[in-house]
Amino acid sequence: MFALPLTEDVELRPLEPWRAEEFLAHLDRAREHIRPWVSPSFVATELPSARAVLQRYADRWADDAGGIWGLWWRGTLVGGVMLVSFDVALGVCEVGCWVEPAAQGRGIVAPAVRTIVDWAVRERGIHRVEWRTNARNARSRALAGRLGLRLDGTLRQLYPSPDGRIDLEVWSVLADEWLAPPSAPAPTVH
Ligand SMILES: CC(C)(COP(=O)(O)OP(=O)(O)OC[C@H]1O[C@@H](n2cnc3c(N)ncnc32)[C@H](O)[C@@H]1OP(=O)(O)O)[C@@H](O)C(=O)NCCC(=O)NCCS
Repeated sequence: MFALPLTEDVELRPLEPWRAEEFLAHLDRAREHIRPWVSPSFVATELPSARAVLQRYADRWADDAGGIWGLWWRGTLVGGVMLVSFDVALGVCEVGCWVEPAAQGRGIVAPAVRTIVDWAVRERGIHRVEWRTNARNARSRALAGRLGLRLDGTLRQLYPSPDGRIDLEVWSVLADEWLAPPSAPAPTVH
């Protein structure tokens, strides 16, 4: 019902359980692309499990503990952003994101992430925003860097995977860093 226009073609909307069919159709286009990089429980393959993913996020939203929003590109759900965790008492949250292949490389994810980070920091007083990524996920690392997050460190060989154990990188941005005006270019010395 509510939509936030991000660009002429892209809208950010709540991704609620009633949208499970649309979400599953989108996952059918995204599944193989995102599977190596997201939690297995997110990559639903049937309607009940797709609905369960959205219901989990709806429950987190109701508990003030997370949330999920979809990206609609020219009316089609092509990806989204989420607050994987959200803890106002601690002042810490974790953001995540994904897009299907046709929508990747178009610069539509970054403004959506900025929108939820802005809300978390400015409206909810979150102090530390985290981004956790497989160290092999070059696009995710590049996006974190473009958004102004810094690499805190690497949890080495944290998870087993068919391709060997996974190094997990933890990136973050702190509220004062997020809110700081972009630094002016250094003055030219004549
Ligand atoms: C991680 C992921 C969301 C990044 O998506 P993305 O499209 O690269 O991210 P952005 O929205 O920032 O777009 C940046 C790209 O759009 C291009 N672009 C095109 N028009 C643009 C514009 N107007 N503004 C900014 N960038 C633009 C940029 O050049 C860049 O592409 P490049 O890296 O090939 O040069 C995506 O790769 C993905 O879904 N991966 C699988 C799931 C995943 O890894 N999720 C994260 C888990 S931690």
